[in-house]
Amino acid sequence: MSLKINYSKKTEANVSKNIVFFVDEKFSTNRVGKNLSSKEIYFINDLLKSADLKKKILTFGMSSNKNIILISSKKDYKISDIENLGAEFYGIINHGKNSEYDIISESVLIKKETFLGHFLHGLKLKSYQFNKYKSKKENRSFIINVLGTKNIPSKQNQIKFKAIEEGTFYARDLVSEPGNVLHPDEYAKRLSLLRKDGLKVNIYDEKKLKKLGMNALVGVGQGSVRGSYLVTLEWNGDKKKSKPLAFVGKGVCFDTGGYSLKPAKFMEDMTYDMAGSATVAGLMKNLAIRKAKINAVGVVGLVENMVSGNAQRPGDIVKSYSGKTIEILNTDAEGRLVLADAITFTEKKYKPKFIVDLATLTGAIIVCLGSEYAGLFSNNDKLSKEIFDAGEKVEEKVWRMPLHKNYDKLINSKNADMQNINYVGGAGSTTAAQFLQRFILNKTPWAHLDIAGMAFSKYGGALNSGGATGYGVRLLNQLVEENYE
Ligand code: BES
Ligand code: MN
Ligand code: ZN
Repeated sequence: MSLKINYSKKTEANVSKNIVFFVDEKFSTNRVGKNLSSKEIYFINDLLKSADLKKKILTFGMSSNKNIILISSKKDYKISDIENLGAEFYGIINHGKNSEYDIISESVLIKKETFLGHFLHGLKLKSYQFNKYKSKKENRSFIINVLGTKNIPSKQNQIKFKAIEEGTFYARDLVSEPGNVLHPDEYAKRLSLLRKDGLKVNIYDEKKLKKLGMNALVGVGQGSVRGSYLVTLEWNGDKKKSKPLAFVGKGVCFDTGGYSLKPAKFMEDMTYDMAGSATVAGLMKNLAIRKAKINAVGVVGLVENMVSGNAQRPGDIVKSYSGKTIEILNTDAEGRLVLADAITFTEKKYKPKFIVDLATLTGAIIVCLGSEYAGLFSNNDKLSKEIFDAGEKVEEKVWRMPLHKNYDKLINSKNADMQNINYVGGAGSTTAAQFLQRFILNKTPWAHLDIAGMAFSKYGGALNSGGATGYGVRLLNQLVEENYE
């Protein structure tokens, strides 16, 4: 499937058989004007009498073999409404075979240059498919011509939308890859290609990680025949050398649970256990493509949690990069071990303005919030509010969950400074976050997003058609754009 969007100066539709107009919520045709004959308008008005006006998009087949598509919009539409409308329009296109559509830009009701931009952005995001491993390729192709110069997005906005799309698709591609293809060695290699986009990429391999003392991270990967890595992606868009914004991601390429083995039903999804890292990579790619005027760094820990004669055992004690010791009571609580070292490293090396980490960390967050909200845990109210507001705006929502020192007793260990699971049970997502918080050593504003319920969608959502969602790229882009640029 290919989808091409062209902008054209001419205003008369004559290329395609499908002409698209924007109308008001009552579907009044008084503005569709010169592209239709009065006979055609009369015909449509007649059909409208019996049409379901609760629908947002109506298609009329004309006797001339032409389709007229009317899309209704309200003046008070939020940005997400406009994007969802574009996604809905993709649903109409997707029913057909090869086809071409002429959108009459003059007919846009909401006279903001971003209306069409967001409409097409929603359409694009929804159109993503991952079919790399299907031997029968779909060869349908769709062309959308945006006619006229009125109400079209500026060049600058077109670049912004494209950057977010590419960042989101990059994240979705990574998450969609199976574990046998995207193991840590391959993942590190792919991330090194981001240099082409202008990112500075540094790869710390297992030898370096051991030397640095990142034993919590290395321990998780020690049962794998693949290496373990920490990869940093730096973007320097602010020449004033301001403190960077830091994004840290969990990159467990496959999570068998280790010796605390997962049952088959819970293991089969665990190729997406690297989604946090994919979001960080997609976000950084987006910032580089649109040349954001900020400094930012992405840090991802890449490992594979396997079973072997050399794998970690329940009861093992490791010394983390922070110096704190951890008793590993459950090898399936591995994400927090990877993040622990990545977080301390990020804080120490970059002294960032804030750290936001993303991870498919706990099944418990799915019990709490399902697939509507990511769990947000933070030591900072201002950062929390900024992330919450950004989430509402782009409809990648977060809901704040508690941290409290009273939870600490649940992860204190008899034999080490802490243990990696809460043996009493309860509040599984909070105790995981409380664990992570111990690896912020210098009070850096920090937020943890548990995206276990958000990274992958079985049935599809407003702006994705099922599979990897790329959740978090748009959220964090909005956070940056709105508050830090
Ligand atoms: N990767 C899982 C969490 C997960 C579960 C992500 C379902 C996506 C969907 C994580 O590593 C894990 O296994 N967590 C355990 C923690 C427990 C052992 C304390 C869990 O949630 O059961
Ligand atoms: Mn696990
Ligand atoms: Zn995991």
